[in-house]
Amino acid sequence: MDEFSRRIGSEMDFRQEAVFAAEIRHNFATMSTVAIPEIVPELTRQRVLVMEFMHGTTLDKLQPLIDDGHIDPRALVRTVMEVYVQMMMIDGLFHADPHPGNLLVRDDGTLILLDFGLVVRVPRETRLALVRTVFAAIRRDADAVTDGFVGLGVVTPGTDRAVILRLVETLLGVAFGRTTTQERIAIMTAAHEELLADRVLTTLYDFPVMLPPDLVYFARTAALIEGIGVRYDARFNTLEFAAPLAIRLRQRIFESLGIDLRPSAPAVVDVLRNAARDATAIVRRAGGELVALATGIATRLSSDLWER
Ligand SMILES: Nc1ncnc2c1ncn2[C@@H]1O[C@H](COP(=O)(O)OP(=O)(O)O)[C@@H](O)[C@H]1O
Ligand SMILES: [Mg+2]
Repeated sequence: MDEFSRRIGSEMDFRQEAVFAAEIRHNFATMSTVAIPEIVPELTRQRVLVMEFMHGTTLDKLQPLIDDGHIDPRALVRTVMEVYVQMMMIDGLFHADPHPGNLLVRDDGTLILLDFGLVVRVPRETRLALVRTVFAAIRRDADAVTDGFVGLGVVTPGTDRAVILRLVETLLGVAFGRTTTQERIAIMTAAHEELLADRVLTTLYDFPVMLPPDLVYFARTAALIEGIGVRYDARFNTLEFAAPLAIRLRQRIFESLGIDLRPSAPAVVDVLRNAARDATAIVRRAGGELVALATGIATRLSSDLWER
């Protein structure tokens, strides 16, 4: 409710909506699979918003187009995911209301985003903590996800780390499983009951996980996107679907956070030079048989470094 009352004022001002629409349109200027209406700023006022009319079908009325083969639902869900990974993890400005009425699809499959009344700007620290948590989840690294949860402020202060770690392990199991929504609810309910039975929690209210206001819209948006996926595949798995996209965009994601993943060129040259020198020394000592081995190590070293 606090978060809602904080935002309702700006949601009522179309000038603000116009600014968000223009900024997000600019961020997707080079992505041909998504379209955002152009605002007419000179005709826009606090209570009037004028923009380009977009022709398309809302996401909840797509079934006929899917049935006759015009639209591939998997490709569409992939586009939605791509757009949201970019907004949430690179641009730090995301459309937080992706319900089917606000998303249209053109006959050629282009995704149209409408309604910029609810747009959230994410502070860099939150984005960094989120990115770290997501990549930890992709690696299935429960320890790092637990750290990520602490960094995001999701863990109730004073909670025993072992409790969170167990919850994270359960969550990762669910996140990677091809389960239906009902099955997921059952697994999480069982985990919760287990915590209660262990007397780790004494009431339903001291659940060790909470949702800070910053993350409310992330969670809601993620749930809406999952809903889009589930619509076309009851066992839709968000993480499985988003992981390859996040990995592919990794360089851009970390660059946008000011973190350079690439080793600098001199560092690579150094490693290669050292490897070559070591190889020469080994050859001198032990003869030709070791050349292949040393070369192999050097190659692997440098390619590891590139990948990193
Ligand atoms: N640029 C547009 N082109 C075509 N239809 C639009 C456009 N903008 C809004 N609409 C239609 O009007 C509806 C309501 O607009 P929207 O911006 O979502 O307002 P609200 O905040 O009331 O949901 C949308 O669901 C869509 O059907
Ligand atoms: Mg709307």
